[in-house]
Amino acid sequence: MTGVERALRIEGLTARVGDTEILHGVDLEVLPGEVHAVMGPNGSGKSTLSHVLMGRPGYEVTGGSVTLDGIDLLSLATWQRARAGLFLALQHPTEVPGVSLESVVTEAVGTAVGSTDSIREVLLAEAARIGFDQRFLDRPLNVDLSGGEKKRNETLMLGVLKRRYAVLDEIDSGLDVDALASVSRRIQEATEEDELGVLAITHFSRLLDVLEPDRVHVLAEGRIQAVGGSELAERLEAEGYAGVLGEAGVSVNLPAGITHPKGHEAGFGDDPFADPVADSLV
Ligand SMILES: Nc1ncnc2c1ncn2[C@@H]1O[C@H](COP(=O)(O)OP(=O)(O)O)[C@@H](O)[C@H]1O
Ligand SMILES: [Mg+2]
Repeated sequence: MTGVERALRIEGLTARVGDTEILHGVDLEVLPGEVHAVMGPNGSGKSTLSHVLMGRPGYEVTGGSVTLDGIDLLSLATWQRARAGLFLALQHPTEVPGVSLESVVTEAVGTAVGSTDSIREVLLAEAARIGFDQRFLDRPLNVDLSGGEKKRNETLMLGVLKRRYAVLDEIDSGLDVDALASVSRRIQEATEEDELGVLAITHFSRLLDVLEPDRVHVLAEGRIQAVGGSELAERLEAEGYAGVLGEAGVSVNLPAGITHPKGHEAGFGDDPFADPVADSLV
């Protein structure tokens, strides 16, 4: 790894679904062990970003680049991106009838990593760690589970698979208060124990109480419109997006310590390739 800069780096990413361009130039960099929150109104492109990063069919990248520890992710198939070290927790986890969580994990880690017995042990330990009933391990994956149970399944896989970077698309949605606490604690621990880099898409600052973000990015209309510290998440929750982004969909009135990304000060269309993390913020 010497010589290779370790980061999940997204630069000038543009992408479309069908005929519509959804991402208009997203710049974001996550270093190992860092937590970056992405917040933004419904329909702003947050889930699109997660699908594009993982290579979901139907999402076409039209420009920009994504590298994971120097590896060009966009040229890889989805399974290769996973092997390269990317984990995606879906906003709406897929139900897989007839296939247990244990089978999925066994396939995902591959036969090279330990025996089936040890995978079972790891899964049991992970389930205990997030207070998840072990009977879910043998049920068909996500089938007939509540939203919160599905999110705990995703967290369990995150803990077991130990990828280098995780994109979590609303991992907190559907979780009750206790589950939210244990899930966010588990993710926080992974950032410390395994130096997991996290891109956490969320609407709620409560997730971020435990999972302390190094940066909060506001995505609106397919661009990062504002970047700040955890106080930005609190302000968004208190005032809503309109307050932070302004009636025109962006701009104006950010408090001290919160800046617009470079090139986005006026109209936000000036330089979609600007690097928001190049600004010193707090
Ligand atoms: N598969 C798709 N087909 C058509 N439009 C889509 C598709 N996926 C997303 N979009 C559109 O892209 C925009 C962004 O959606 P999405 O990324 O899901 O937003 P968010 O996760 O921020 O709520 C929305 O206008 C949505 O309707
Ligand atoms: Mg979404």
